[in-house]
Amino acid sequence: MSKVDVVLGCFYGDEGKGKVIDYLAADADLAVRATGGDNAGHTIKVDGVKYAMHLIPSGILSGHTIGVIGNGVVLNPEVLLEEIHNLEAHGYDVKDHLKISEKAHIILPYHRMMDVALEKARKDSKIGTTGKGIGPTYCDKYERSGLRAEDLYMDTFREKLRELVEKKKALLKFYDPEDTAIDEKLDFEKLYAEYTAYAEALRPYVCDTVTYLHKALEEDKKIVVEGAQATLLDIDFGSYPYVTSSNPTIGGIITGTGLSASDIGNVYGVIKAYSSRVGEGPFVTELLDADGDRIRELGHEYGTTTGRPRRCGWLDLVTIKYAKRVNGLTGLSVNHLDTIGKFDKIQVCVAYDCEGQVTEDFTTNLTFLGKAKPVYKEFEGNFGDISGCRTFEELPENAKAYIRFMEEYIGVPVKFIGTGAEREAMIVR
Ligand code: GDP
Ligand code: IMO
Ligand code: MG
Repeated sequence: MSKVDVVLGCFYGDEGKGKVIDYLAADADLAVRATGGDNAGHTIKVDGVKYAMHLIPSGILSGHTIGVIGNGVVLNPEVLLEEIHNLEAHGYDVKDHLKISEKAHIILPYHRMMDVALEKARKDSKIGTTGKGIGPTYCDKYERSGLRAEDLYMDTFREKLRELVEKKKALLKFYDPEDTAIDEKLDFEKLYAEYTAYAEALRPYVCDTVTYLHKALEEDKKIVVEGAQATLLDIDFGSYPYVTSSNPTIGGIITGTGLSASDIGNVYGVIKAYSSRVGEGPFVTELLDADGDRIRELGHEYGTTTGRPRRCGWLDLVTIKYAKRVNGLTGLSVNHLDTIGKFDKIQVCVAYDCEGQVTEDFTTNLTFLGKAKPVYKEFEGNFGDISGCRTFEELPENAKAYIRFMEEYIGVPVKFIGTGAEREAMIVR
């Protein structure tokens, strides 16, 4: 039986996971999303067209790969239908290339409203969520009051929804007393009609994806899993509470798909040759100076989902070593080597200095992270134009030295190197 390859983010998201999945999908039958929802934004450039994928696995862009939205995903049907229509408008046959887990939890407008209300109530300690209703939907899942895709087709749907809407209205009035339009925004009959229509539109896609995936494996089909978010945004292993509400690390891939630990083969960790983060929370190597601005402009670091400018800084290998430990990485993908290569000198964080205590071990304790200062090692930059390089050997010596150091420090081989945003701009080793 063939093994499943997994692609995961190692930092705070937006490492370029979509681009790596797009490459792997060329040889894959299925591409699976396991966690998160439309808080994710995966950008792929194909023949000059830019696709921003939020829910449908990027692998579908190969044209032959079937995208599977696993049980661990929280799903906004409106966003999904928009994404389907957009792909169809670009000539993709989505109907025969998409499956949705009957167990995926549905995001409703009250989840988004609660997300926004909670952020408002947090005032100065806000998380900086995407406002897509992700946290409140996972809350309902674990409280056991959520609606799963399969619930939309049951006779009990109308009464369940009515009950939930009443409960949520009361809660929202408590959390956001300034919002005087809650009753209007959550008109039950309107919501019921809207979600019944979504359910009909999605009916051809909803199925038991656990059985579907295992049957595919038994038929020796090739499966890749497209991680969303990243290790440091993990609800357990990230910089809590400045995290998302799921487990985007390796454990979440298993619980979010129904695949087993022994089904997994390669685990590719994706990083950029520098660091970025959107939203609030610690970021030890963040650059609040002209270098940070330069990375943002050169790397076009603006959010795919919210358009927010991303916070930028030097590569932090202390965190990547942690990501390797937590996820059991077997290979790395380093994107944006072209971007960092435009600097004369490049800094890489190799340890944290916390009030004189120097360590290479990352921990998510916020007091520790607040005090930690990066210890840098300097590398020579000026890589020149590397966008045409297709083998490691073609790269200039400075670029090779930078990559070799990462491999040595993390103890994992670099399998993929991104040399530009286009699909072809990648070195595979
Ligand atoms: P994801 O969420 O991990 O899939 O990453 P995003 O799509 O949110 O952000 C990555 C951004 O970097 C996108 O705009 C990609 O087009 C771009 N990108 C990915 N790899 C490279 C690379 O090697 N070089 C350059 N210049 N851009 C890249
Ligand atoms: P991809 O898959 C970057 C961040 C948000 C916020 C925190 C919580 O594109 O890498 P949420 O809406 O999930 O409750 O927000 O998590 N966040 C991401 N940052 N890339 C993502 O996904 C993200 N998904 C969530 O910015 O800080
Ligand atoms: Mg992204």
